[in-house]
Amino acid sequence: MPALRSFALVAGVGLAIATFSACGGAGAGDLEGDVADPMTIFDEAVSRFEQAPLAHLPTPFEEMPTLAAELGGPRLFVKRDDQTGLAFGGNKARKLDFILADAVAKGSDSVVTWAGVQSNWARMTAAGSRRLGMDPILVLQRREDQSVAPADGNLLLDRILGADVRIIEPDGDREATVAEIASAEREAGRTPYVVSVGGSRTGGDMVLPVGAVAYANGFRELLGQAREAGVTITHVVHASGSGSTQAGLVVAAKMLAPEVRIIGISTGGSKAAGEANVLAIARETVEAMQLDLEIEPADVVFLDEYFGEAYGVLNADVVEAIALTARTEGILLDPVYTGKAMTGLFDMVRNGAFRPTDTVVFLHTGGTPALFPYREGLLEDLPDPADE
Ligand SMILES: Cc1ncc(COP(=O)(O)O)c(C=O)c1O
Repeated sequence: MPALRSFALVAGVGLAIATFSACGGAGAGDLEGDVADPMTIFDEAVSRFEQAPLAHLPTPFEEMPTLAAELGGPRLFVKRDDQTGLAFGGNKARKLDFILADAVAKGSDSVVTWAGVQSNWARMTAAGSRRLGMDPILVLQRREDQSVAPADGNLLLDRILGADVRIIEPDGDREATVAEIASAEREAGRTPYVVSVGGSRTGGDMVLPVGAVAYANGFRELLGQAREAGVTITHVVHASGSGSTQAGLVVAAKMLAPEVRIIGISTGGSKAAGEANVLAIARETVEAMQLDLEIEPADVVFLDEYFGEAYGVLNADVVEAIALTARTEGILLDPVYTGKAMTGLFDMVRNGAFRPTDTVVFLHTGGTPALFPYREGLLEDLPDPADE
């Protein structure tokens, strides 16, 4: 049993950080005496990682009966990880619980990361860093077609959060810029915490794949809610980008509910690259959690036929998915991630990819602040309710 070491108060901010013993692994089957069930082994594995209570958990788990009836498919549910709190919510809050706890434990006073200009990760990292008393430094790379003035959507929120925003041009070197900033911070006598985009790949100061551990724990939360509601999940569909959301889901599903298929919908990367990335993070996660589990290539489903022209480029199918989800369930999706993932779900339902007896969960990973900078494209293709 990992021992609960302490509940330390973070200086100056008054937030409790649960700190657990980092050593003494309980891999499957190595508990003394009685044989522990996978859920117990899993919970103990997660409890060995430090967490900062930033996210509002558990997030709601709800049925979408009107959308299911409209599409003519199986039962559809939604896991509302857009409701995690932390400056408009999204999947990054779960990851930041673990990542920023690590930053605090390492005595960091700034957090340095990189992403795109309209990054949800950057916005939520800024909010979480602020909440834990650290300064956010964001290296944001502009795409050719993207303007940064006036600040809108996530970029506006980054500014409100007082993040130190460094915009770099499309051909700029993000990682070199991050390295320069981190060494300038160190020269100034400060301790920066460098973490990669999306909190997915290890590197910089994040030496364990704790973003994926967080999502493994998110799947465990979902499974508990479904079981309590008497619902047997067969599929989870979600937007997949930097990979740790999917990697965590895959690890926990394989261990706790191997009948559940995790279907990642690419938001811009190719199938081959996405599958390899998720597989690598999932395997690293199994190792970090000291689980007795093999993740096979067949466990990773990463579909690249739904992102359209390119990452971040809107199309009429995405607008249709956003509008229909809003008009049937009152749920807002975003144009870059969840709207595209929903086009995949729509297509699979309409083309009979699921059996009528299946139960499909759409994991809503957030991103809604990006609706605003996409206002023109959205308005152009939004169906008129009078024509529906
Ligand atoms: C709203 C939203 N959904 C999904 C994702 C993809 O998550 P991951 O990067 O863990 O694959 C992101 C990543 O930025 C996101 O912002």
